[in-house]
Amino acid sequence: MADEASKRAAGRMAADMVEDGAAIGLGTGSTVRFAIERLAERVADGLSFVGIPTSHQTAMRARRLGIPLASLNDAPRLALTIDGADQVDPALRLIKGRGAALTREKIVAAASDRLVIVVDEPKLVGCLSSPVPVEVLPYACAFVERRLAALGGTGTVREGARKDGPVVTDSGGFVLDWSFGPIADPSGLESAVEAIPGVVASGLFAGFSEKMVVIVGNGSGCRVVRPGSTPPRSAW
Ligand code: 5RP
Repeated sequence: MADEASKRAAGRMAADMVEDGAAIGLGTGSTVRFAIERLAERVADGLSFVGIPTSHQTAMRARRLGIPLASLNDAPRLALTIDGADQVDPALRLIKGRGAALTREKIVAAASDRLVIVVDEPKLVGCLSSPVPVEVLPYACAFVERRLAALGGTGTVREGARKDGPVVTDSGGFVLDWSFGPIADPSGLESAVEAIPGVVASGLFAGFSEKMVVIVGNGSGCRVVRPGSTPPRSAW
């Protein structure tokens, strides 16, 4: 599939940015999977690094491929994190959390000197607008729903695909997928959502642009977008 090839190209390029001896955050999802596979090849060729996984899925994949892992408590400062995204806008603000790993992904992004985001072209949007995943403490779920409704839009508790009832995240939370429509002020909305008591984290990542590199896979390879180098909104 062309889409898979794009994700693969982006993931592999990100893995080639990892330097010997580093502690690296490992995000979650189908694009990061290709980075993990490439990192495993590099480990077999002698690369030495330790990965800090953001989910059971990533930990299991990495462990199976022989990648050394540690916890964030072992390595609280990371040289780089490789992660995916659901939407990216021209100011390099993100919506993340389709895989419900948003809280750990946000922590690891904050702990990293550099953040390498791997996506394919359809993830690039002029304005963030997809539903925003919001991880909440189960205790506060209905309360947070009311507060989110006061901010605008509508949403639902994410249900399991092959499990009855709500998705329970790797950190024990529920996820509310909240549609705000086009988001004019991602940073302001992120602050407002995360100020609600009971919210653990939102899938809006508006504060990491300065240390971010976005690798965009496409049919012919990859292009790399850095802060300040984004094309005009119309060409994005
Ligand atoms: C998981 C995430 C993922 O990184 C994001 O959803 C992108 O996933 P994929 O590469 O499979 O499209 O945020 O919580």
